[in-house]
Amino acid sequence: MTATLLSPLKLRELTLKNRIVVSPMCMYSAINGIANDWHLVHLGARASGGAAVVIVEATGVVAEGRISESCLALYNQAQMLALKPITAFIKSQGSIPAIQLAHAGRKASMSNPFNGERLLGLNEGGWEVVGPSAIAFSERYATPKALSIKEIHELVESFKHSARLALEAGFEIIEGHSAHGYLMHQFLSPLSNKRTDEFGGSLENRMRFPLMVAQALRDVWPAHLPVFFRISATDWTEGGWSIEDSVAYVNELKKIGIDLIDVSTGGNVSGAKIPLTPGYQTPFAEQVKAQTGIVTGAVGLITEFDQAEEILKTKKADVILLARELLRDPNWPIRAALHFGEKAQVPPQYARAYK
Ligand SMILES: Cc1cc2nc3c(=O)[nH]c(=O)nc-3n(C[C@H](O)[C@H](O)[C@H](O)COP(=O)(O)O)c2cc1C
Repeated sequence: MTATLLSPLKLRELTLKNRIVVSPMCMYSAINGIANDWHLVHLGARASGGAAVVIVEATGVVAEGRISESCLALYNQAQMLALKPITAFIKSQGSIPAIQLAHAGRKASMSNPFNGERLLGLNEGGWEVVGPSAIAFSERYATPKALSIKEIHELVESFKHSARLALEAGFEIIEGHSAHGYLMHQFLSPLSNKRTDEFGGSLENRMRFPLMVAQALRDVWPAHLPVFFRISATDWTEGGWSIEDSVAYVNELKKIGIDLIDVSTGGNVSGAKIPLTPGYQTPFAEQVKAQTGIVTGAVGLITEFDQAEEILKTKKADVILLARELLRDPNWPIRAALHFGEKAQVPPQYARAYK
């Protein structure tokens, strides 16, 4: 019997060769938003390691939408061209290239964290940050300028523009980033969105901007290819965004034609208490799947082969996203196949290691 973890999954016309997805991870290694050898080697190693899908890190749809000065961006030709060899290599390994399109909103304009993360001043390459309302994430972050309605519409166009470039660069999946306290999540949560126009107030109004983005991405992305959305299913804070809100939001995303919900949590409330136990976010993926019927991904402290298999077998989720475990071992998918006694798809260059 094939392990579910190693079984294929068809999404629109695309077939994932197994259920293992490389979760998007910022590498803080870009200059002017442009990918380089680091991104090729990092993402390429995880593709040759056997993951079905490799999702490129949160990529800013405009320069001001980058989390840090060293994050990837995708709004010009140079950025698009630099991603082409990466998508080509990922495909050459039988894996599917995906990219997470993002805007960091009030959590933007940070320094490269390798030497201690801090807010970048305007005089040292930082920029004015924007958000739904003029409320800072914490005292370590800038107070954002509240976006005008015109600017909100322009940002929807920016997401569209990036999606077109992503297609040109060779990606087969795009993921909208509406989690972790970045711009779309800032609009969703009543704790960060205090607007009094049609983009704030009721749940319907707070969902308006992310749903406009979802529609824009779906409109641009070819009908035979899937679109993912990442959500934070809860703010882990009384009075914040909740799992009930998430179910309502996912029902709307489903109507738009979003194919998979990648279920994370948190990130919008500084100091929120999050119970970091193995698989701690999986119950949210399970609830979203059960209550909306959409295909979901579970992520967060999933590290063991049997743990991942149990999540899939018991239908808590349809795919498993791994982040840190794949940093420790890019060949985790190959080792999963060996663990379950199945034929591992090993690059021929590495075959002698598995004889
Ligand atoms: C180095 C690093 C960078 C990350 N960057 C992103 C990102 O760009 N976008 C995102 O949605 N999540 C990001 N995350 C979160 C991961 O995708 C993942 O949701 C989280 O680490 C939990 O999964 P894990 O326990 O398997 O690491 C990042 C995590 C790490 C460790």
